[in-house]
Amino acid sequence: ITKIGVLTSGGDAPGMNAAIRAVVRCAFYYNLEVYGIYRGYEGMIQNDIRQLNSSDIAYVLERGGTFLKSARSAEFRTPEGRKKAYENLQQHGINGLVVIGGDGSLTGAHLFYKEFGIPAIGLPGTIDNDLSGTDNTIGFDTACNTAIEAIDKIRDTATSHDRLFFVEVMGRDSGFIAINAGIGSAAAATLIPEKKMPVEALIDRLNTRAKAKKQANVVIVAEGGKSGGALEISKKVKKYLPNYDIKVTILGHLQRGGSPTSYDRVLASKLGVSAVEGLMQGKCDVMAGVINNKVVYTPIKRAIVDDKEVDEEDFRVAKILST
Ligand code: F6P
Repeated sequence: ITKIGVLTSGGDAPGMNAAIRAVVRCAFYYNLEVYGIYRGYEGMIQNDIRQLNSSDIAYVLERGGTFLKSARSAEFRTPEGRKKAYENLQQHGINGLVVIGGDGSLTGAHLFYKEFGIPAIGLPGTIDNDLSGTDNTIGFDTACNTAIEAIDKIRDTATSHDRLFFVEVMGRDSGFIAINAGIGSAAAATLIPEKKMPVEALIDRLNTRAKAKKQANVVIVAEGGKSGGALEISKKVKKYLPNYDIKVTILGHLQRGGSPTSYDRVLASKLGVSAVEGLMQGKCDVMAGVINNKVVYTPIKRAIVDDKEVDEEDFRVAKILST
């Protein structure tokens, strides 16, 4: 490996900049060249590729978003798009890739390796935490902190006005942000896609809390919930509890931005180094992650299997603490 291309793709996540910086710094440490591929696979197809130097990565570690920008590329899903992308990499002499993103982005890296043999290492960059092969994805911790900070504020109003709030958090089809936000903000209940909670059970929970004179009622709803998002659930609940003053807040993209937490900075930095060193050791078609505080490389094919589930124990704890 002599020239590494690095890109961020899919939804941005806090810590992506820290990961890019670590890739560049580590590559320089080993006297390798690094090329920034802008706007993810879209930029690879459009040849938006520039060599990076030290000044490109100054003061980026602490910034949210991704200075390489990100995109979801429809063209890269086609064989013609991938061929164009390959030709552009060839033109720059790029012979190793680091792809930072979620499952869609890593799937792209896997396909690309299979078709053109360019060694690629994936880094888990998504707030959703829905990738196997790592305890946490880059950005997840920051997103949870952002959600909890916002919910703390909502709780003030919930308490002051005796209102019932439904707060919807991101996570696509998974409930990791929701369960963490639920435990970390003393939610009255947490609804996640992995566990069905009938509306009757939620009403029971709220009635029990009312008897116990619990002051604040904030229910966390994961956006991918099987019974619908916060708005739908709130309407169902209103039918059972017509006297409750119910409000809905959808946190949305607020959760994707902001300066990364120390956890995400360290995770992203470790993984950036592991990506470069992994490529140098001949590893490819794998995702670098951290499990039990140790860096591990998992075949991308395995990491993208959608089977990482919210820990049963977390769900049990959330239930005990909200009843
Ligand atoms: O994958 C990250 C994520 O923020 C999900 O939690 C959410 O469902 C989705 O991306 C939103 O995507 P977009 O920004 O394209 O609307």
